[in-house]
Amino acid sequence: PTELGVAVLGMGNVGAEVVRIITENAEDLRARIGASLVLRGVAVRDLERGRGIDRALLTDDPAALVRRDDVDIVIEVLGGIEPPRELIRTALQQGKSVVTANKALLAEYTGELATAAAEANVDLYFEAAVAGAIPVVRPLMQSLAGDKVQRVAGIVNGTTNFILSAMAETGADYDEALAEAGRLGYAEADPTADVEGYDAAAKAAILASIAFHSRVTAADVYREGISSVTAEDLASAAKFDCTVKLLSICERVVGDDGRERISARVYPALIPLSHPLATVSGAYNAVVVEAVDAGRLMFYGQGAGGAPTASAVMGDVVMAARNKVYSGRGPLESTYASLPVMPIAQV
Ligand code: HSE
Repeated sequence: PTELGVAVLGMGNVGAEVVRIITENAEDLRARIGASLVLRGVAVRDLERGRGIDRALLTDDPAALVRRDDVDIVIEVLGGIEPPRELIRTALQQGKSVVTANKALLAEYTGELATAAAEANVDLYFEAAVAGAIPVVRPLMQSLAGDKVQRVAGIVNGTTNFILSAMAETGADYDEALAEAGRLGYAEADPTADVEGYDAAAKAAILASIAFHSRVTAADVYREGISSVTAEDLASAAKFDCTVKLLSICERVVGDDGRERISARVYPALIPLSHPLATVSGAYNAVVVEAVDAGRLMFYGQGAGGAPTASAVMGDVVMAARNKVYSGRGPLESTYASLPVMPIAQV
């Protein structure tokens, strides 16, 4: 194909950035993919809200958009279980590749959706669902596929890390810090998902599923949030050269019967200031992976926010698009062979 049609479902913080990147970076994306990405439509809840894009592209009927024959790749950034689950299933069944940032959905239905993608021989990618811009899904699924991952532990919710960091560093009040996280576009539409640890638990379920080649759902994850952490707790932690971080920990454990099991848990943990995760401040995330042969790996970066999350979405879109163009025949080599060469700067 010389062009690939793209449908974007959702025009919140992430969707708006995705549309911006597709538009602004069209030339680079075309060179990397070997075909143009053409935006066929953007599904929104409210057609009346001005969004700075061609109104002819807006629709409030995502089901019709997904079914269009000229749509090859569906980007789902709506959030929530339904309608995204049904829309993604339809897209996959119709041979469309899907890129989603929907952690709540994946935490329940990765198995079902991955099966639908495999049956239709299309891609289902979700790098953006865990830790925003940070590549952690693909490293676990691909780079470490020949190793045995023992443990994945980290800070995977930007909002709560922003709040805890502000409380520890400036003595800020919990409510003020939460409101600021909302203004900066980090918090979920309903911040209960952030502060009560549901968002981190969904991400822990996804991480545990891919790290241990298993099926872990959010209900399997022990969960405690940060709403009862007080400024006094952080002050006392500081007296002992410690701080409090909301950690998501997934590991293999051996039960009394000698059998290996998966333990997944999210809770506010007291950690020493010398611990690498203690230095992760603001809406940043970090994930530490321990594997038998690789040893310890650490991933760090912006875990929330429109542009960082859209960066991860677009990486997946480029991968899915290349697979469509090259049908799995070494897309990287073929694409790089045809890229324009940049001159080398003199030092
Ligand atoms: N509300 C989420 C967070 C957004 O704060 O981390 C990214 O998933």
